[in-house]
Amino acid sequence: MSAFYYPRPALVQALLDAMSGQDPFSDAANGIFLSAPRRTGKSTFLRNELLPALESDGKLLIYVDLWSDRKRDPAALIASEICAALKHHLPALVRGARSAGVSQLTIAGWLKIDPAKVGTIEGLTLPDALKVLHAAAGKAIVLIIDEAQHALSSEDGEATMMALKSARDQLNRPGDTKLFLIMSGSDRDKFLRLLNSSAAPFYGSAISKMPLLDAAFIAQAAAKIEAAAPHLMPVNRDKLERAFARFGHRPQAFLAALSEAANALHQPSPGFEDEVLHAAERQSAEEEQGMANLYLALRPLEQALVWRMLEQGGRFRPYDAAALAFYSEHAGEKASTAQIQNIIEALRSQSPSLVRKSAKGEYAIEDVGMYEWFQRLVAAGAWPPMAEN
Ligand SMILES: Nc1ncnc2c1ncn2[C@@H]1O[C@H](COP(=O)(O)OP(=O)(O)O)[C@@H](O)[C@H]1O
Ligand SMILES: [Mg+2]
Repeated sequence: MSAFYYPRPALVQALLDAMSGQDPFSDAANGIFLSAPRRTGKSTFLRNELLPALESDGKLLIYVDLWSDRKRDPAALIASEICAALKHHLPALVRGARSAGVSQLTIAGWLKIDPAKVGTIEGLTLPDALKVLHAAAGKAIVLIIDEAQHALSSEDGEATMMALKSARDQLNRPGDTKLFLIMSGSDRDKFLRLLNSSAAPFYGSAISKMPLLDAAFIAQAAAKIEAAAPHLMPVNRDKLERAFARFGHRPQAFLAALSEAANALHQPSPGFEDEVLHAAERQSAEEEQGMANLYLALRPLEQALVWRMLEQGGRFRPYDAAALAFYSEHAGEKASTAQIQNIIEALRSQSPSLVRKSAKGEYAIEDVGMYEWFQRLVAAGAWPPMAEN
């Protein structure tokens, strides 16, 4: 089952339609922002399906995954992909530069990127680089930035996002889009920061939820099992759908469990669907226990801080009066601003880090799954978690 792949042509078509310019209300020319939780198939879809479809539609594609190398600055990752595209179009470049009206261009060495001068390709600003690229390639450019929210983890990354917005505004005219920006994000809250304040790079645009794999994905997997093992017919699709949901709509974990349960070597018997469902329940219980253990291993003041962060989400302020009162109420001891600051730093630098800090200096829990876990326990009246005995 590992090779099982479910293609999503309808989703490809919906995006192509939005970008075609035929819908007067489509905002695609200003950017497409897609969010879905991690491991649900975003990168796979963008790379394996959307990218080739847009290429055959005559566009020049640049794809950057900001999580591909977490040690590199997102600005440098973006710049180096744009640089690679420029190099590819080098032969036509000189002519392109002329017709784009870029006069200060010196050929020798100008394609190198200086990470210290982010957004510039030696003497060329990012918007100019994209203008030159467009002129050189003679095609509309589609720049796909996967896990785009990660750009906000560095100042240079944030500046790059601003530069991309400026490039978009300089290159595009109504009805004539030369630069499409498609961004994906796993963390909706962080992703929103690209759009939802007047200082945000893409203020005014909206995030679309990228649809999760659905019943049709399950139906296709079930049909494949039935074809390989007719004695398992009819495969209980409903149970498999429930298992998939329990796996958080993450195809990899689901397909692994399915492959284990319906493996021909084990002579699977009717009812193997229950095994898949149990595997899903086991995994989600394990994940929750892992988070509970992490929380329970913290000292009282650390727990109070994490609790406050989970509860406040994007509104979290570490040192305001309400927060300090919260810490002392839940930890049973008074905490100074300096103490809290030390705790935050310790939780940030531990590995894996529990807390992260954005370029703007805002703090949040690194693992978004913890927010969902917190909400679930609160809803079930089971917060805070208790030690197992
Ligand atoms: N359409 C699909 N059909 C089958 N498996 C898929 C599909 N899309 C994704 N997967 C599986 O799920 C895993 C996670 O997908 P990925 O695209 O990396 O998620 P994301 O980018 O959202 O974190 C992939 O490695 C792949 O094994
Ligand atoms: Mg991805």
